[in-house]
Amino acid sequence: MKKTDEARLEALVRRILPDIRPSKEELDQVKSAINEIMGRLSAKLPKSVEAVLLGSVARGTQVKGSSDIDIFLLFPRHMKDTEIERKGLEIGKSIVKRSKNESYIVKYAEHPYTKIFIKDLSVSFDIVPAYKIENARERGTAVDRTQLHNEFVTSSLTEKQRDDVRALKVFLKSHRIYGAEARTEGFSGYLCELLTCHYGSFANVIDAMANAKLPLVINIRRPKTDSIPDPGFQLKIFGKRFIVVDPTDSNRNVAANVSEESFFRLVLSARALISNPSPKTFFGSGVSDTNSSRKLSALQKSLGYKMYSVAFDVPDIAVDIIWQQLRKLRLRISDLMAKEGFRVAVSLQEVAGRRAMMCFFIENDIQRYRKVPGPRIDMADSVGKFMEAHRGSMMSIEDGRIFAMEQSKYGSPEELIRGFLKGKRAEIPGNLRGAAVYRGALPESLAKMAYIAFMEKFSI
Ligand code: CTP
Repeated sequence: MKKTDEARLEALVRRILPDIRPSKEELDQVKSAINEIMGRLSAKLPKSVEAVLLGSVARGTQVKGSSDIDIFLLFPRHMKDTEIERKGLEIGKSIVKRSKNESYIVKYAEHPYTKIFIKDLSVSFDIVPAYKIENARERGTAVDRTQLHNEFVTSSLTEKQRDDVRALKVFLKSHRIYGAEARTEGFSGYLCELLTCHYGSFANVIDAMANAKLPLVINIRRPKTDSIPDPGFQLKIFGKRFIVVDPTDSNRNVAANVSEESFFRLVLSARALISNPSPKTFFGSGVSDTNSSRKLSALQKSLGYKMYSVAFDVPDIAVDIIWQQLRKLRLRISDLMAKEGFRVAVSLQEVAGRRAMMCFFIENDIQRYRKVPGPRIDMADSVGKFMEAHRGSMMSIEDGRIFAMEQSKYGSPEELIRGFLKGKRAEIPGNLRGAAVYRGALPESLAKMAYIAFMEKFSI
């Protein structure tokens, strides 16, 4: 990278630092909340179980105002996982003081854990049960690695690099690619730490990503004694084109959840930041969802597309699950539309609270007939069969091939969606209930979801 570009990015990070690094008051408040919770835990924990602070707060890479504190309860490896699950929840719940305006919910990852809200201190704690391990080979559950990550990150990052991690997280968040969850398919906090560690600084990560090409395999600081990994082999075993090997577990690709769309979004955002290293480029622009219904109709008019939507009620379970089920269903409907001759220009989905929705922008929404291509005329048998199958249809010959005009099974995308949802083979996941189909205009609450999803997709 040109020295001047690097200096301008470094200057930008220094300038925005007060907006992204927690203030001394915030850190003091978090510290006293941690002391309070650790004190309560130590009174409840059996001798064999250890409570440790992990995650970004422990590593000093948390962003200003992010109030999630991760405390892990480390159980001995010989205990059964059902036992640590039960004990972990029991201990988590037992330290909540309702009289002090505190509450909790049980959250479900691979293992359930307790999330405690301490309203008076405006922080929340995740109390996560895990096994105490020394290396990845001893791992029992996915969250066990977190203690190894902590060790690696705290011993690898300098103070300045911790601020660089914060800058990277906020930059990614501003461009809607921070977080490994299914909705975002972006870069996790740990991945930001590893990239900063590998390239050395925020400016260098931006420079590397602005020039990045796929496939990209990153092996972080392998000890010299280790054999040099073969990127070709890694590409094969991980089955992805962007790989960041976990320095604490060579069997894990920390970038496994990063979609290629998110990867390339970062490439473009990094190039934009280098050419204009201003707070405006760094923080990006938000989307306002007021008057979404009106804005959506204007969009349809100017694009010349018609919008068809389906909304569902969803239960209060992990958004990741709903998101994936919704995506699968959306892609199936999209495929069916294409098969039936409706051209889907854009398809989107969104989940908000207990509502989920998908919408399709269709280029040609009125269709009576579709043109079905048949075999080449020289394939006598096949042509015969084709003509037999389309008896009564109008037929033509074009470019040496036979074509038939077949009456559409569905007169409109709405008919197709309704037909599909009613069909026996729809197999709509049980979490997507009470399907409601809309043509064009949507009630404002659904319009907001569709508009945000549209603007996010086209916010390059
Ligand atoms: N973790 C992981 N893989 C994930 C999610 C989490 O390995 N998909 C581990 C990482 O070690 C991570 C820790 O769990 O650092 C805590 O995760 P989380 O609280 O989601 O993120 P933080 O790293 O704490 O980052 P931040 O809170 O700043 O977003």
